Amino acid sequence: MLKRKDLLGLIDASEAEITEILDLAQDFKNRIKRGEKKMNYLDGKTVTVLFYENSTRTRTSFEQAAKYLGATTVNIQAGTSSVAKGETLVDTGKTLDAQRNDFIVMRHPMGGAPYLLAKTVKAGVLNAGDGINEHPTQALLDMLTMRETFGSLKGLKVAILGDIKHSRVAKSNLFGLKTMGAEVAMFAPQTLIPTGLDKLGAKICASREEALDGADVVMGLRIQLERQKAGNFPSLGEYAANYGVNESHLALAKPHAIILHPGPVNRGVELTSGVIDHDRSRIEDQVLSGVAVRMAALTLLNEYRKEQGL
Ligand code: NCD
Repeated sequence: MLKRKDLLGLIDASEAEITEILDLAQDFKNRIKRGEKKMNYLDGKTVTVLFYENSTRTRTSFEQAAKYLGATTVNIQAGTSSVAKGETLVDTGKTLDAQRNDFIVMRHPMGGAPYLLAKTVKAGVLNAGDGINEHPTQALLDMLTMRETFGSLKGLKVAILGDIKHSRVAKSNLFGLKTMGAEVAMFAPQTLIPTGLDKLGAKICASREEALDGADVVMGLRIQLERQKAGNFPSLGEYAANYGVNESHLALAKPHAIILHPGPVNRGVELTSGVIDHDRSRIEDQVLSGVAVRMAALTLLNEYRKEQGL
C-alpha cells in the first residue's frame, strides 16, 4: 500500500514504493495477457480523467485501467468543460469533490498544477503529466518494461536522447531510475538540456556515441515543438542527422539493448523507422505496461484511502 493520497511525481518516491507499484503492475500485466479484464479492486469507485492537453495513450490507458478495475470513469476534455468559461482549477476540483469522485487523473500544461489540485480536493490525484515537470506513471511503465526484460533495474545503463529540456518523461525517469540504482546518460543539443540535471544525478554526455556506449536501454524522446520557440536547432533534418538514433548507432549499445519511446513518435526525427520497428523495440510493450502500472497505482492508492477512511 502506498502511504500517500496522491501520486504526483517520482521525485520523492522511495525504492520500496516503486518496487511495490512495479510488483503489482507485473501481476496485472500477466493477468491482462492471459485475457483477464475484470479485476474488481475499484468496484463502486469513480475515476475522473481531466485533461487540459492532448493525449492518446495516457488518457485511454488510465481509462482502461480504471475500467479493468471495475471503477466508473468520467472523461472531461477541458476544451468542452466550464474551464473554457473561465472556471479556476480549484473550483473545478471543488465541483469534482462535491460529486464524490474518488480519483482525479489530471494532465495540465502548467508544472505544479496537480500539486495545487491535490491540496484542495479530497479525491486522490494522479499526475498524468504537468507541463515540463513530471509524468510519474510514464516513467513507472518504462521501468516495468525494463525490469521485465532484465530482471532488475540495478546497474542498468539507460541512454535518453531527444528533447530533454521540455520532457517531463525524462525527469520522472531520472528520479525513478536513480532511486532504483540505474545509471542515466542523456544526450541532446545543448539548447535542449536544462542546466542542473547533472546535479540531480544525470550523466550529461558530450556525444551521441558516449550516451549509447554500452547502454542496456536506448530511449528516444519526441522533439516537443509545441513547447519550444523556434531556434533550438537549425531544422528537423539536421536534428535527425546529428542527434537522432539510426540502426547503425545501435551497434554502440549492448547487443541485448532494448529501444523505448513514450510516444507519440516523430518517425525519422528522434529515431529512424528502422529503430522504431526493430526486433529489440519494446515501444508496443510499453503501452501494455502503461495500463498495468496505472492499475497498480490506482489500486495501491485506493488501499490507502480505505485504511484512512477516505
Ligand atoms: C509524453 C508526454 O505527454 O509527456 N507522451 C506520453 O505521455 N505518452 C511525451 C510526448 O508527448 O512526447
